[in-house]
Amino acid sequence: MDFFDDKIAQRLGGINFYNTNKIYKFEKIKKAKKEAIKRNPHIALIDMGIGEPDLPADSNIIKMLCNEAEKKENKGYADNGILEFQEAAAKYLEKIYGLKNINPSENILHGIGSKSILSMIPLCFVNPGDIVLTTVPGYPVIGNYTEFLGGTVYNLPLYKENNFYPDLSKIPKDIIEKSKLLYINYPNNPTGQIPTKEFYEQVVHFAYKNNILVISDAAYGAIAFDGYKPLSFLSIDGGSEVGLEIHSLSKAFNMTGWRLAFMVGHSKLIKAYSIIKGHTDSGQFKGIQKAGVYALNHPEITDRNAKRYSKRFDLLIPALREVGFEINKPRGSFYCYVPIPKGTKSGILLENAEQVSLFILQNSLISTVPWDDAGSFLRFSVTFEADTPEEEIKLIKELKNRLLRLNFIF
Ligand SMILES: Cc1ncc(COP(=O)(O)O)c(C=O)c1O
Repeated sequence: MDFFDDKIAQRLGGINFYNTNKIYKFEKIKKAKKEAIKRNPHIALIDMGIGEPDLPADSNIIKMLCNEAEKKENKGYADNGILEFQEAAAKYLEKIYGLKNINPSENILHGIGSKSILSMIPLCFVNPGDIVLTTVPGYPVIGNYTEFLGGTVYNLPLYKENNFYPDLSKIPKDIIEKSKLLYINYPNNPTGQIPTKEFYEQVVHFAYKNNILVISDAAYGAIAFDGYKPLSFLSIDGGSEVGLEIHSLSKAFNMTGWRLAFMVGHSKLIKAYSIIKGHTDSGQFKGIQKAGVYALNHPEITDRNAKRYSKRFDLLIPALREVGFEINKPRGSFYCYVPIPKGTKSGILLENAEQVSLFILQNSLISTVPWDDAGSFLRFSVTFEADTPEEEIKLIKELKNRLLRLNFIF
């Protein structure tokens, strides 16, 4: 043991922290991708694993940032944000989700991305020993921070048989009694499932009955197509009395690297978050917030993105079906989620999604994201790189041919 080894908090596992901290799956995928490219330098990798938009932000949003970046008034600490952004967010919520009576200064607060907001939520609400209910597979940040703080995570599997909604009736009573928060995410990453009014009503009922605060992560909220109209948890009767929601500009407006999101909810929840946030960061650059105002005032930008994703799904879904994957087109997000094959006609057995994903990567130079948390599935994203509609068609044809050559059995 050297000088540094006993410095890591016991809460995090002390010296074992370095060993127990699982390598983030996406790091592993990145490494496997690099190796596959190195071994096959003459074949172009088809990357279906990307979790962010392929296009840059709309040129008017970028212009707005350039203009605002030059202004002296924007140079300083933004602290807990600018009212102009909160007002634009309130208008956006009314226009897209029909949310009324949102007071911009009391019910909305920005964050440096929803990842940052999700990391601060356990700091606001979780005591050591508290349980946080989170859906799996899913975005792990709220769960990881819960554990960093001495809380416990109870996983709610999203099974295909339950249409990728958690079965709240299966949670044991003793778990419910210790539960403080319920994290849900619809449209869902990675399953692509969209929320329904009935599901949200069930969640409201569950939260009331069991005194559990609902954290609704709407990072993909407005990416909707094929007749799905964006639905907010807070628009459901009683929703705003038991929950808060997080919206992000990352995916809806192709602004992942810009880091801009906001929380909306009861003033008491916003106040708690604002105090923790005030101690943690000094706010997103005002120039970015002002560009964010432009984005929120132009939701047709998201509609354009959603239409483009929908068209790409219209190419991808039939191609995956021809290969043998059982899959329906999603109606929100940019992900589709397919059950894995059992193996290949040549006799190779594939036992889980991680094996299948690696097999496809190494043999076909196609990157996907594997999930083995609740059944074994691969996530394909339609944010693949292709500059024109013609290139999209060519790429999906190539993807299909490469997958067909693997001779999967299902
Ligand atoms: C479900 C979900 N929530 C939140 C985030 C984080 O988004 P942001 O860029 O706003 O931090 C992601 C990013 O992939 C996500 O998939």
